Amino acid sequence: MFNAVQPAPPDPILGLTEAFRADPNPAKINLAVGVFKDAEGNTPVLASVKAAEQRLVDDETTKSYMPIDGSPAYGKLVQTMLFGADHDILANARARTANTPGGTGALRVAADYLSQNHAGATLWLSNPTWANHHGIFNAAGVETQTYAYLDPNTNALDFDGVLAAIQDIPAGDVVLLHGCCHNPTGVDPSLEQWKAIASAVAERGILPIVDFAYQGFGQGLEEDAAGLRAVAAACGEFLVCSSFSKNFGLYRERVGALTLVAQDSDTADTVISQVKAVIRRNYSNPPAHGASVVTTIMSDDAPGGLRSQWEAELAAMRDRINEMRSAFKAGLDERGVNLTPEGNDFVTQQNGMFTMSGLSKDHVAALRENHAIYIVGSGRINVAGMTPTNLPVLCDAIADVMQP
Ligand code: LMR
Repeated sequence: MFNAVQPAPPDPILGLTEAFRADPNPAKINLAVGVFKDAEGNTPVLASVKAAEQRLVDDETTKSYMPIDGSPAYGKLVQTMLFGADHDILANARARTANTPGGTGALRVAADYLSQNHAGATLWLSNPTWANHHGIFNAAGVETQTYAYLDPNTNALDFDGVLAAIQDIPAGDVVLLHGCCHNPTGVDPSLEQWKAIASAVAERGILPIVDFAYQGFGQGLEEDAAGLRAVAAACGEFLVCSSFSKNFGLYRERVGALTLVAQDSDTADTVISQVKAVIRRNYSNPPAHGASVVTTIMSDDAPGGLRSQWEAELAAMRDRINEMRSAFKAGLDERGVNLTPEGNDFVTQQNGMFTMSGLSKDHVAALRENHAIYIVGSGRINVAGMTPTNLPVLCDAIADVMQP
């Protein structure tokens, strides 16, 4: 029976981690998958997470099933992080949140929900976008198209291109916006641009999905939510797929959320009933551990409590990434390497873990074959994987592969 099965191509991101593990070169460097590393190249468990886990070990009383949409306390804290405690969406109970297995799980639940309840709607994704977006939605039966996003000459936002593309999206279709720290480019709209994009989406009658996997990795927890809140101000209905993989370092615990916002509370009840039906047929109810860790940390909000400890740890991760951005730009400048015709300034202007380097497929292949440096085929580099030790090696290697 299995003889006729053809092998699937390797995943463009996680497949590289497999290839990296198999590479015997001791000098190999992995800047592919979006995982934060400290200056020593490790991805440690945050101290606030360890402390919360200890409390859970001591206090947990049951391993019985979770509700289909997870714990109400977790849902409330997710909504508070997204919109702020005093937002109209919370005051009027217009949001419902399902705890999902990671941000990827949130996207897949959203995809199944769309396919079953918004028949014929096409999803519009930025070009470029996260390598898994098309696959997740296509697998659920949702057709995908792309909208312009990046100006390749400057590696900056093609804002006019985004607005023009939105004008052409049919009403009733769905557009996915990256809430902050755009993956793979690191290029985010300014607040003014967000407001214009959100108004255009609302005027066209398009349903926005905000993919929000990096809150706190750009400018700060509140600052990074400004784009999402601009969408909330302009659009009465939307979905948010959020993740705590990066900002709590909980990658393997798979902790994320799908939040739906409706015009009113009754409509929100109807839509969450469909979301719960999707979840029940898929994984029944979510794993508890990661969400319990997040809830424990966020609930301990007294001065000196776990929440302030976590916020300091998050700020330290953000600062380290920004230091690496500056050092990467300086390293390229020192070697006379220009990644775009307009130089390397874009590296320090982008947000979050990733930079879209502008390196071609041939450069990416040469980095891997000649230097055992792994980056994603699109040219995306994980800045959060750079360290003071591997940075000069990376800059030398880029200078080498870009030689005319
Ligand atoms: C990434 O883009 O590298 C991360 O979001 C990890 C993943 O699942 O691809």
